[in-house]
Amino acid sequence: MVSLLIAYLSWSGNTKEVAELIESRLQEASIDVTMYRIGAGEPIPDVASYDAFMIGTFTWGKGVNPPQLKKFIAAVGFKPELVYVFGTGDTQFGGDALFCAAATKLAAFYHSPLRPLRIEQSPRGHQEQLVIDWTDEVIEHYNQTMIQ
Ligand SMILES: Cc1cc2nc3c(=O)[nH]c(=O)nc-3n(C[C@H](O)[C@H](O)[C@H](O)COP(=O)(O)O)c2cc1C
Repeated sequence: MVSLLIAYLSWSGNTKEVAELIESRLQEASIDVTMYRIGAGEPIPDVASYDAFMIGTFTWGKGVNPPQLKKFIAAVGFKPELVYVFGTGDTQFGGDALFCAAATKLAAFYHSPLRPLRIEQSPRGHQEQLVIDWTDEVIEHYNQTMIQ
């Protein structure tokens, strides 16, 4: 069974909600998902022991990566081969360049093969479909990568 780690940073719960929606969709596809909430005091997981790695974050300041996120990345200590990125943000903090900028930067940092999923605040409602569609893209991408 494919194993996938979702590490996410969430302060007020939006990114957590996205992570949980992604988790449900992956589980429907028989993927073994482990959830890790960054900054909650749990030991850093062994990222290398999973088939794939997903990371999610909110954006802070003016397009800034939250400090706990940077700390987590440093503690992991290496860049996994296959990283999928999602984030939540709020367009009222600036234009498209600032919206979910932390997720955009993370995707570039990890050379993610897919565009990062960007969700405005809570994913509940019409954005749930965006989460489902993106998760299906991840599953398809992962399956294609394994065939090659
Ligand atoms: C002080 C502050 C600064 C923020 N700056 C940005 C920003 O630059 N870009 C953005 O997209 N969202 C920004 N946000 C919005 C949060 O990223 C957004 O509310 C996010 O969904 C929070 O995630 P969480 O509920 O998982 O903690 C900011 C929020 C706060 C409170």
